[in-house]
Amino acid sequence: MTVIAIDGPSGVGKSSVSKAVAARLGYAYLDTGAMYRAMGWLCMTRGITDPGDVVELVRGADLEISTDPSAPTVAVDGIDVTEEIRSAEVSASVQVVSAVPEARSELIELQRQIIAAAEPGIVVEGRDITTVVAPDAPVRILMTADDEVRVARRAKETHGNAGAEAVAATRDVTLGRDAKDAQTTSFLTAADGVHTLDTTHIDFDQSVGAVLALVAAAQ
Ligand code: C5P
Repeated sequence: MTVIAIDGPSGVGKSSVSKAVAARLGYAYLDTGAMYRAMGWLCMTRGITDPGDVVELVRGADLEISTDPSAPTVAVDGIDVTEEIRSAEVSASVQVVSAVPEARSELIELQRQIIAAAEPGIVVEGRDITTVVAPDAPVRILMTADDEVRVARRAKETHGNAGAEAVAATRDVTLGRDAKDAQTTSFLTAADGVHTLDTTHIDFDQSVGAVLALVAAAQ
């Protein structure tokens, strides 16, 4: 079983690139951010913010995530939350979960189980995959892009355009979340042995091609 580990900040394009790479290789795809988001959604709907209560909720939750790159759905306690977890409210509250070490441990354990069961391989993306979840993966990549490029990409995703207003509305939220995440996970610089893929000046197809080339080189 081959693991392709991809980390990076928000707006870098790692989800779409990871999905495309998985589809091309016939691999499974695991969006670990969706797991943190699903738990963030659950905490939000229950009004839970205390770290101890967060851990208990995460431990007791039934989290189901599909690893099909063409239909990556996520459900909590039988409720499909695939759409809801992309809301601005969930993005803003996800750190209620991701900043709590014991909650992370629970999700990391689940991630490792999913990875171990994947055949013939899996593309796993997040913030701590190359360093914590799968540090022994044969292919480990940190995707980066200049801040303004990432903000523009995220503005396009959330507002449908990258005009001045959309970019202004996206900048603080995106960069603020990255700064907070960087206190918990290390995804701003590549760890030893991790390839940096700077996508500032390359498009989606070129990014997919670059990842596939790194996979081919590792085989
Ligand atoms: O990748 P995405 O933006 O969907 O991730 C949502 C949030 O989940 C991140 O802002 C971060 O707080 C958390 N996360 C994490 N570790 C991961 C993946 C995501 O802490 N491996």
